[in-house]
Amino acid sequence: MLNPRRAFIAAAFLLTVFFLITRSHSSEPSPATKTESQDAQAEAQAAANTQQRILPPPPPQKPMIDMSGMSTYEKLAYQYEYDIESKFPAYIWQTWKHTPGEGEFQFREQEASWSIEHPGFIHEVITDSVADTLLQLLYGSIPEVLEAYHALPLPVLKADLFRYLILYARGGIYSDIDTYAIRSAIEWIPAQIPKETVGLVIGIEADPDRPDWADWYSRRIQFCQWTIQSKPGHPVLRDIISRITNSTLTMKKEGKLSQFQGNRVVDLTGPAVWTDTIMDYFNDERYFDMANSKGKIDYRNFTGMETSKRVGDVVVLPITSFSPGVGQMGAKDYDDPMAFVKHDFEGTWKPESERHIGEVQQELGEGEEAPKQQ
Ligand SMILES: *[C@@H]1O[C@H](CO)[C@@H](O)[C@H](O)[C@H]1NC(C)=O
Ligand SMILES: *[C@@H]1O[C@H](CO)[C@@H](O)[C@H](O)[C@H]1NC(C)=O
Repeated sequence: MLNPRRAFIAAAFLLTVFFLITRSHSSEPSPATKTESQDAQAEAQAAANTQQRILPPPPPQKPMIDMSGMSTYEKLAYQYEYDIESKFPAYIWQTWKHTPGEGEFQFREQEASWSIEHPGFIHEVITDSVADTLLQLLYGSIPEVLEAYHALPLPVLKADLFRYLILYARGGIYSDIDTYAIRSAIEWIPAQIPKETVGLVIGIEADPDRPDWADWYSRRIQFCQWTIQSKPGHPVLRDIISRITNSTLTMKKEGKLSQFQGNRVVDLTGPAVWTDTIMDYFNDERYFDMANSKGKIDYRNFTGMETSKRVGDVVVLPITSFSPGVGQMGAKDYDDPMAFVKHDFEGTWKPESERHIGEVQQELGEGEEAPKQQ
């Protein structure tokens, strides 16, 4: 199965990992991430240091066929095939301004919880500059994706797109830097569901069963994108990357990106477009045999869920899994067996635009108010 293209991709990826490890772990590792494999890691790092001195930076991947006539969606499909029978890659991806080795890093406990629950996983906290290099390598052959990424006017938008891009190319788990792993991802998929039939694991963020739900959330059922697990090449990720690329470049052409308002993050890259993309996938006849299905799949199929539900190759976890302890919408507490990830956000029953205010304000600069959702 190791054709020249794959071999080249594999080689290029290994070089990147070496490169990232040397870049992101140059300060001494902190005690909480120490594991028995540390000696091996030190050796790998020594090897990587040597490698980096001898080798020039890895070249971006070159496409082996002419892709000029292809749509973004087709290019993405060509570049990263989806193999449902492959294993979930043992990666944990997070992003932040600083790496855990830097003094300013303020999420030590949260970050360590992921390492502790997932021994043997490669766990990377990616900074902006490392993200740029990594994306250049992974998406060099699909320039419009890179153009869209660089055109996004707020860091929060880039952070959203980055998670879809890294999972699409490499798979594994993405989780926001302010999340705690309560249980290992090994437990996320129920034992009775064979892992070779699943390619994407998502959780419910919000299930506001009240008449005024639209004042608080953009969708009646909202899927969460602060924690996602996927295999590489998953069609949902392919679709959301194509959508964001298209809408960003359209706005760029029309000169609308410079006046982009923080309250529209949910629609351009955030939970609203994420939820729509997933719902469309569930109703997409390219992927699902609609002949025997009884009607459209929509929020009604997910409201009030207390256990996991599989739709095609997607496992949807109940609200308790990624939002335990919020005290509403049926979410149970942190000690529930279905509670997998804890997200540290202040204020839960607040409009979305206000829940994002911390993040958005940081991007806007102090003193500037994030605009309220219309
Ligand atoms: C976005 O998609 C539409 C419909 O497929 C297409 O006509 C348009 O050219 C695309 N825009 C960009 C900037 O890619
Ligand atoms: C979704 O719900 C509809 C009724 O609202 C039902 O007919 C259909 O079988 C459900 N589909 C799945 C996959 O649960």
